[in-house]
Amino acid sequence: MGQPRTSWRPYRVARRVRESATVVSLHLEAADGQLLLPFQPGQFLTFRLPGPDGRPGPRNYSISSDPADLSRYRISVKREQAPASRPDLPPGFGSGFMHDQAVVGAIIDGSAPKGQFALDQASSRPVLLLAGGIGITPLLSMAHTLARASRPTWLLHACDNREVQPFADEVAALAATSGSFTAATCLKEPGEGDGTRADHRFSGLVTADVLRALLPIGDYDVYLCGPTGFMQAMYALLQDLGVRKEQIRYEFFGPAIDLKALPTAVARPVVRPPMSGPEMADHGVTVTFARSGRQYPWDGAARTLLDFAEAHGLAPAFSCRNGICNTCLCEAEGEVSYIDDPLEQPQPGMALICCSVPATSLVLNL
Ligand SMILES: Cc1cc2nc3c(=O)[nH]c(=O)nc-3n(C[C@H](O)[C@H](O)[C@H](O)COP(=O)(O)OP(=O)(O)OC[C@H]3O[C@@H](n4cnc5c(N)ncnc54)[C@H](O)[C@@H]3O)c2cc1C
Ligand code: FES
Repeated sequence: MGQPRTSWRPYRVARRVRESATVVSLHLEAADGQLLLPFQPGQFLTFRLPGPDGRPGPRNYSISSDPADLSRYRISVKREQAPASRPDLPPGFGSGFMHDQAVVGAIIDGSAPKGQFALDQASSRPVLLLAGGIGITPLLSMAHTLARASRPTWLLHACDNREVQPFADEVAALAATSGSFTAATCLKEPGEGDGTRADHRFSGLVTADVLRALLPIGDYDVYLCGPTGFMQAMYALLQDLGVRKEQIRYEFFGPAIDLKALPTAVARPVVRPPMSGPEMADHGVTVTFARSGRQYPWDGAARTLLDFAEAHGLAPAFSCRNGICNTCLCEAEGEVSYIDDPLEQPQPGMALICCSVPATSLVLNL
């Protein structure tokens, strides 16, 4: 099995900026004297934060800054409160830490930039960036890159109201300086005076009519990030509008769900396994689900073993689908290759199936 690349490095909080009633940005510089590594627009950092039980708790935050500026990374964190229906629950500890304790000068351990949700800069298609709430963070980093590249781009930010909407001014500035960048906001429940800004084009929910009114007919690359319900609804709308699934990329901030399992299928970024699927099939690589008593050839059509299991009707437990939470940890005989480095390397004989593919034939305890 591969070795994890996650090695922690210290970041110093150099600046804090309040972006909205619920979102604060932290500007981070290297505290070890090293240069910050370049990142792909859309990637995130994992932080090792002190958990409520005293043990370190990993939390991920997308880099919201312009990838051309490597003097600092900016992350932008929404404070997570307990759901209104469950005031007995504690508020989110990671976002609470970032809001209350990550003051200027504080040192936080974090990873190098990572993640597969990245802008395809080789494509010349027009781009739709579709953000729900705090889901704008990876898309904002993409927006800076796209505006500079003069590639036709539409950014639609769906928010409850102006009070909670982050980055309205930054997005408006991109639209003002780039002739190829169009910004629009859809406010679900606009407050008094919220509708006066130029980017306020729509109120209520994002519907097919909203997308039709915003977008000229075209062949778009779509990047989608927001709450789960928003993403499900947007995916259905995009399919109605004829966007091909191969051109929709997305990222979940919370527990991921398999949008492919919905009646309309969703595309994920494709990462090539070390050996191609047909090559593996030629080599007779198989995956056996021991508890289900089934065996299938690995043909490379699935991105990960978790996707593969789901495609064959199994429903393994998962949460992050990102190699972080260990929910998908599974007993495995054989070798796997990690396409995304897990946060911690599993013990021998175990595999995180959400971020791995077979390196040899496998027997999984599923
Ligand atoms: C790739 C990626 C990128 C991300 N980027 C960003 C970003 O740019 N900005 C951002 O703000 N977030 C981002 N996130 C989300 C972020 O990682 C955290 O998940 C988020 O901040 C919530 O973490 P928390 O520790 O504050 O909340 P948690 O402590 O995980 O709590 C979450 C919710 O559960 C409730 N809760 C607490 N205890 C219980 C319990 N016992 N039972 C049930 N419910 C409970 C809390 O009240 C809260 O509402 C990203 C996530 C991923 C995977
Ligand atoms: S689902 Fe979280 S590590 Fe695999």
